[in-house]
Amino acid sequence: MYVPAENRYDVMQYRRSGRSGLKLPLVSLGLWHNFGGVDVLENGRAMVRRAFDLGITHFDLANNYGPPAGSAEENFGKIMKLDFHHLRHEVVISTKAGYWMWNGPYGEWGSRKYLISSLDQSLKRMGLDYVDIFYSHRPDPDTPFEETMSALDYTVRSGRAMYVGLSNYNAEQTREAAAILRDLGTPCLIHQPIYNMFNRWVEDELLEVLDVFGIGTIPFSPLAQGLLTDKYLNGIPEDSRAASEHSPFLDKDDVDKTIDQVRELNKIAQERGQTLAQMAVAWLWRFPVITSVLIGASKVRQIEDIVGAMNNANFSEDELNRIDAILKG
Ligand SMILES: NC(=O)c1ccc[n+]([C@@H]2O[C@H](COP(=O)([O-])OP(=O)(O)OC[C@H]3O[C@@H](n4cnc5c(N)ncnc54)[C@H](OP(=O)(O)O)[C@@H]3O)[C@@H](O)[C@H]2O)c1
Repeated sequence: MYVPAENRYDVMQYRRSGRSGLKLPLVSLGLWHNFGGVDVLENGRAMVRRAFDLGITHFDLANNYGPPAGSAEENFGKIMKLDFHHLRHEVVISTKAGYWMWNGPYGEWGSRKYLISSLDQSLKRMGLDYVDIFYSHRPDPDTPFEETMSALDYTVRSGRAMYVGLSNYNAEQTREAAAILRDLGTPCLIHQPIYNMFNRWVEDELLEVLDVFGIGTIPFSPLAQGLLTDKYLNGIPEDSRAASEHSPFLDKDDVDKTIDQVRELNKIAQERGQTLAQMAVAWLWRFPVITSVLIGASKVRQIEDIVGAMNNANFSEDELNRIDAILKG
């Protein structure tokens, strides 16, 4: 039987998600890539175990993670059964619905029909009675927010979820949706936007809205899918996401476009005595409204590296200015 490291809660720091009672680790692990049916289960299993040993209590999924869609939840269910069945109360599991999952008019977006059917399928795939956080994965322009939010509220009232969240909603959509959820008595726990050094859209307005509503923030793709690391400095390694046939959202063009900035950022990271991946994650923690940073990983050692970012999470004004200057090009 898997016995987790005894010191796991001493290694990690936890932040409260907005004005809720739930604390999340500064680093959360996402299972979008590297946990699907095309991947090696034992590698995924080793990553989840090592993450938990380091105090990472929060694992993020979605109905469609794989490939094939659904297989990451199936594999995570296997890992839960093998290693974590006695630890369910110590683990926070998130899933989402919003993107395409099955054919026909009820297989994507934000209807009550789709969201609740999808969550029931997710629970079955993972072998769980409930998830801790259920997200609307994207706003639906054609379904009234009242319907989507009341479906989220229902997932909590029916015992399928403990909390609800929003992902990929812009500031205005978040304001509207969060107000409905608050009125329904199921306040939005957390928002999951893309946020990294190369994509700072949340800084314009969203972070302020989240702060006002007391909603936590969990940035996804904090490393820009691996671009904000030292892995592409000498070309594209075979075992990287940019080279993988299973990752249509990152390729050689993305590497070519960013590599000059990455080299400059890497110099600052080296001066700070940390890896670029560590600096990219620590930089996101600088705002208190950021609850946790949601990383992906393909190897155990990447998770260990990221957790090491906590050893140097402070930035001088000068460092922040130099980073801004590099990012502005
Ligand atoms: N809500 C949404 O719409 C949405 C969208 C996307 C993602 N997400 C969530 O966010 C999670 C993270 O997204 P992401 O995987 O794009 O995040 P990311 O952390 O930006 O990228 C993860 C990739 O970076 C590389 N990496 C990680 N740590 C490293 C290290 N220490 N040194 C060198 N390389 C390192 C690995 O690439 P290699 O594979 O090349 O080794 C890893 O697969 C997903 O799993 C998912 O849960 C949500």
